[in-house]
Amino acid sequence: MLNMKYLLRGAKISFGFNPPGNIMYFFISIVQTTLSVYITVILGNTINEIQDKIGGNSSLSEIIFPIILLGIFSVLLWILVELRWRFSDDILPLKSRVRAQTKIIDLSRNIPVREFDREDFNTEYSKFADGYNELCSFLPSLTSLINMTYRLILSSVILFQMHFSFPVIILIFLVIGFALNINYANTLNDLWAKTQKISRKSDYLAKQFSGKNNRDTRLLHLKDKFVNDWLEINKTLTGLNAEGRKKTDRPFAIYISFCEQIAGLIAIVICLFLIENGALQIGAIYIVWNLISGAVGNAQNFQRAVTNLILNGKKFKTIFNFYDKYSVSPKIKNQGTSNFIKSDIPIEIKNLTYKYGEDITAVNDLSLSINKGESIALIGENGSGKSTLIRCILGLYKPESGSVKIYGSESYETDEKIIRQNISVTFQDYCSYPFTLRENVGFGDIDDIADDDKILSAIKFANADEILSKSGTLDAVLGRQLNPDGFELSGGQWQRLALARAYMNMRDIAIFDEPSAALDPIAELKQFETLKSALKDKTSILISHRIGFARLADKIVVMDKGRIVEQGTHEYLLSLDGKYAEMFNAQKKWYDLDYSETEKEGA
Ligand SMILES: Nc1ncnc2c1ncn2[C@@H]1O[C@H](COP(=O)(O)OP(=O)(O)OP(=O)(O)O)[C@@H](O)[C@H]1O
Ligand SMILES: [Mg+2]
Repeated sequence: MLNMKYLLRGAKISFGFNPPGNIMYFFISIVQTTLSVYITVILGNTINEIQDKIGGNSSLSEIIFPIILLGIFSVLLWILVELRWRFSDDILPLKSRVRAQTKIIDLSRNIPVREFDREDFNTEYSKFADGYNELCSFLPSLTSLINMTYRLILSSVILFQMHFSFPVIILIFLVIGFALNINYANTLNDLWAKTQKISRKSDYLAKQFSGKNNRDTRLLHLKDKFVNDWLEINKTLTGLNAEGRKKTDRPFAIYISFCEQIAGLIAIVICLFLIENGALQIGAIYIVWNLISGAVGNAQNFQRAVTNLILNGKKFKTIFNFYDKYSVSPKIKNQGTSNFIKSDIPIEIKNLTYKYGEDITAVNDLSLSINKGESIALIGENGSGKSTLIRCILGLYKPESGSVKIYGSESYETDEKIIRQNISVTFQDYCSYPFTLRENVGFGDIDDIADDDKILSAIKFANADEILSKSGTLDAVLGRQLNPDGFELSGGQWQRLALARAYMNMRDIAIFDEPSAALDPIAELKQFETLKSALKDKTSILISHRIGFARLADKIVVMDKGRIVEQGTHEYLLSLDGKYAEMFNAQKKWYDLDYSETEKEGA
């Protein structure tokens, strides 16, 4: 039930986040508990001394000493309580969170990109990340549980010395309490599993009212729909939580506050009886009441801690299974940077099939070779499989069947580093960073981020000079997500920066997925010219719906439903009068116009 193996592993990791901090926290907790129990005992004994003094059996000095001791202990206790809070609130969490987060990020780098395309995987991943973060507080919680157990044992030993019935009272009430609430852990575990997925949807809906989504929500009049959906979900969430509490915390809290009084009262009656018999003195009432009601009253915290331990065992099992699944990179590491032998063919695809799930065959038995220095234009309608093919080439997706080789090496099994050293890529859904202009371009080659000349020439190459004139300096912040003074850019301007980023470090193989989708036709034609010179001597794949772009390439490859349906030069494909000719004719007029516009502009 306790999943000991996973708990021990969790404790080891949690301890490793901050070993000295955890040791100190444990030490402080134990000393604090010992001190607070002994203060109760000393106070009880002092009451006895006072009673003796009143009865003339004791001298004043015998009372003063314990009172001074009490004063010193109380100050010490106060310092320890303060220290313990510092540790549990500031010192332990900060360092542990950084360590846990670093581990999560390291692991996420091993996870195949295609996994993140699946909704169920994202739920699994966020469950893992939340759970792994909880490891930070695991050892401190375990320390609290050990400390509570220690307090219970210490109190029982002291009480046993006074009379055997006192620890028996504690035991009886604790056992009844636990028995009444035996399903506590299971109920909470079920609740956690049920609420996870619903909470994600609730968070998503809440986000539709802020940031850029707010605009669409308003314009499309979606407010009522989203608010109603959110309300429904939150009604379910509140219902589930209330149901859980009804079965767990609520009955227990009522039971405990009742038992605390009853147990204390029974103990006092026994105490009075023992005082009457001369077995105990009056101060015993104080000690017995405090220790017994303290122990019984603490039962809820105790049970919560035990429950959390059981729940942690279950959670850790899921977390560590997930961790182990991805802790080893799926890339077969026989392709270290040193033993990668480059063959002559940059890209060689044979009978490649890739499926999303069972049903969607995005790339279907596709074969294609791209020679050194050759440039290919990949065209096809929406959903024909172009971007998926690129992901397979980059080794991000594992082929269902067939193979994709980069310089002779199976791309899915090749070290990411080698892929990066040989291929530069601009994705269709490129990133726009709300950071500086320097970072937006320099991220293309992080090692040269301080090299102004290189960044400036990449900006020039991508025809993004106007962004620099607007911002004035490379270090101006772009976008307003993180900085209210940032320069906001248009969609086309962001795309130019994505291109500049690619120009920072052009590799032997260059891939551009829709590099001109957000550009106006004139900017697109300018981009043509730049790309033409940038791609000289490179092996390249250009994806575009715009036929004008396709004409840049040595060979045009037309995709349809995951297959190559036509390939060859512009003239050859026109002569086929097939898919390409159809697309070309549909766009022809547009391009005739654009060319004449630029000619006019250039004249
Ligand atoms: N993450 C995904 N999960 C499931 N199916 C997907 C996913 N991404 C793409 N698909 C499906 O795979 C097919 C090919 O998509 P892909 O993005 O490769 O097309 P594309 O040719 O790049 O289209 P576009 O011109 O619109 O960019 C489509 O039917 C699409 O619905
Ligand atoms: Mg695409």
